[in-house]
Amino acid sequence: MAELVNWVRKDPIEENVFWPSDDLKERSWVSDESIYEQAKADPEAFWAKHAEELHWFKKWDKAYEFSPHNYKWFGGGKINLSYNSLDRHIKEGRGDRIALIWEPEPINEPALKLTYSELHKRVCKFANALKELGVRKGDSIGIYLPMIPEAVIAMQACARIGAPHSVVFSAFSPESLRDRMIDAKAKVVITADGYYRRGKAIRLKQNADNGTAGTPVEKLIVVKRLQEDTPMTPGRDLWYHDVVADQPETCPAEEMDSEDLSFLLYTSGTTGKPKGIMHTTGGYAVQAHLTAKWNFDLHEGDVYWCTADVGWITGHTYINYGPLMNGVTTLVYEGSPDTPDYGRFWSIIEKHKVTQLYTAPTAIRMFVKQGDDWPNKHDLSSLRLLGTVGEPINVDAWLWYFNVIGGGRCPIIDTWWQTETGANMVNSLPGIGPFVPTVAGRSFPGILGHILDSGGSPVPAGEGGYLAIYSPFPPALTRGIYGDMERFAKQYFAEYGPERYFTSDGARMDEAGNIRITGRVDDVMNVAGHRLATAEVESALAQNDKVSEVAVVSRPHDLKGEVPVAFVLLRAGVEPSEDIRKELMATVNSVIGPTGRPDEIVFAHDVPKTRSGKIMRRVLKALVRNEPVGDLTTLQNPESVEHLKDQVGYGES
Ligand code: WTA
Repeated sequence: MAELVNWVRKDPIEENVFWPSDDLKERSWVSDESIYEQAKADPEAFWAKHAEELHWFKKWDKAYEFSPHNYKWFGGGKINLSYNSLDRHIKEGRGDRIALIWEPEPINEPALKLTYSELHKRVCKFANALKELGVRKGDSIGIYLPMIPEAVIAMQACARIGAPHSVVFSAFSPESLRDRMIDAKAKVVITADGYYRRGKAIRLKQNADNGTAGTPVEKLIVVKRLQEDTPMTPGRDLWYHDVVADQPETCPAEEMDSEDLSFLLYTSGTTGKPKGIMHTTGGYAVQAHLTAKWNFDLHEGDVYWCTADVGWITGHTYINYGPLMNGVTTLVYEGSPDTPDYGRFWSIIEKHKVTQLYTAPTAIRMFVKQGDDWPNKHDLSSLRLLGTVGEPINVDAWLWYFNVIGGGRCPIIDTWWQTETGANMVNSLPGIGPFVPTVAGRSFPGILGHILDSGGSPVPAGEGGYLAIYSPFPPALTRGIYGDMERFAKQYFAEYGPERYFTSDGARMDEAGNIRITGRVDDVMNVAGHRLATAEVESALAQNDKVSEVAVVSRPHDLKGEVPVAFVLLRAGVEPSEDIRKELMATVNSVIGPTGRPDEIVFAHDVPKTRSGKIMRRVLKALVRNEPVGDLTTLQNPESVEHLKDQVGYGES
């Protein structure tokens, strides 16, 4: 394949602007820019046309219906995500293709490969097992699984019988699991005895036990992954291998209404309590299928690898449903990128001849730091396309990814989207480009992204503002927050009204419509690509009774993008010490999990507050970033800022 053309554009937005080679244009699903105009002229017709690529038990009556806070796609249509991921391929003669490759972390364990027919059987058996346990359409199911094949199988089985899944990241704490299971009203949870991470056996069952005690969960189905005994609670716990053992190998796929709930996924908002983002079936399927196909240039025989965890939306849409609906091979890796060494990713790519790699900027930055020797030891020539997701990427990491990993031949698709959007929203298309470090690209065809000021007026090209999405909304956009539609309306539509979804991201756009995301404008952090509210870390720390007050802000970090910094006021009589610091870290670990651990805890005597007593996080944020603290006249205690500067050496001077 010819090299990508490096073209330096006159537009000052960036110096490095790459365009697709002729080969890439020829091969990709779309290479004519007119697709954007066409789709924009009639987004409903655009999505309806591509909806036809999937199997519908019954065609929809109307593509899009809108009323405030209640929009629908493909209403009246009947569809099933698992049918489209598996049965459709088998019926069309693709059953022998490899659907899933699972690479265990221990290098002496062989990889597992399942064809579409084999995966279908496993999914059906487990779906039948769930039914036998009394699970019915509409019942929510918790999935607390590591990166093992059963994670995909369990999600598919739930989708097959119409039981919305609610996946909880396996590194989340028992408390996180408990909150989510209670909120989702899950009666069944699927977990594992454990998994391997960084060469160690991590015992997950214990967390699942702690996280389900005192909840409505009646059954815990446990996958056996470790070679050791695990205590099981009689009457409640069941081994996965036992429940599937005698099940039939077929199970009809439930005919779901297009707008039926397909899953809940909890994500951080601005409060301490994560919200259950609701995704429906038809619109989600259509956007997941088309974005996976076009953005990652998926073709027969591709071995596509998304390194996210199934616990995040990226894992849902781009490990499971997106690639499987496209009939390619999806690779699932159990472990850590540095085990046994920093060459692991590159050896996996070489071993399985991976064609597309989709990963997070945090991982890329980590690899940059480890040097070029690790990837250079491996043959990465199977790669055709690279993707990034989850956080803004810096120019150096982008160029390293492009040159060292992609050999200068692979486009980088920088995909902006959110748990709420369900599928990719803003990115360049491989056959159209441009590929520009730090610029995601245009809104995907049929999606109407605009940059607005705080009053709701579009800002001129090149100027900063807030990214908003106009109705007709993208088909996969969330339909609500589970059990809290008021919060849904407030969070996303209070700013610009019901016809414009507010993303909470800052952005700017050039004249051609290419969008650069500048980051969240609310109190949501992006820690190593993991979404986390400052309020969540605050409420975790506040659970420790030695803490009287706490404020958490984010600070930029070379590797992780952002990290939390906690300002803690201890109760009277408690003196700061290393032990207390450790104890507070442990508190966060047990409430949220390791993702929430502050990078630094500052024991403060006082934190800046407004006259009404609200902590001014803006000032703390400026302090930890060594930025000017701005106007302090509205503070009741401006001296606190000086103290903090002295205490921790922060401050602009
Ligand atoms: C951020 C992850 C810059 C953004 C799919 C968004 C990005 C939040 C990008 C959602 C990107 C995601 N460039 N920032 N390509 N992709 N973000 O819900 O701030 O875990 O609002 O979904 O991640 O995080 P979430």
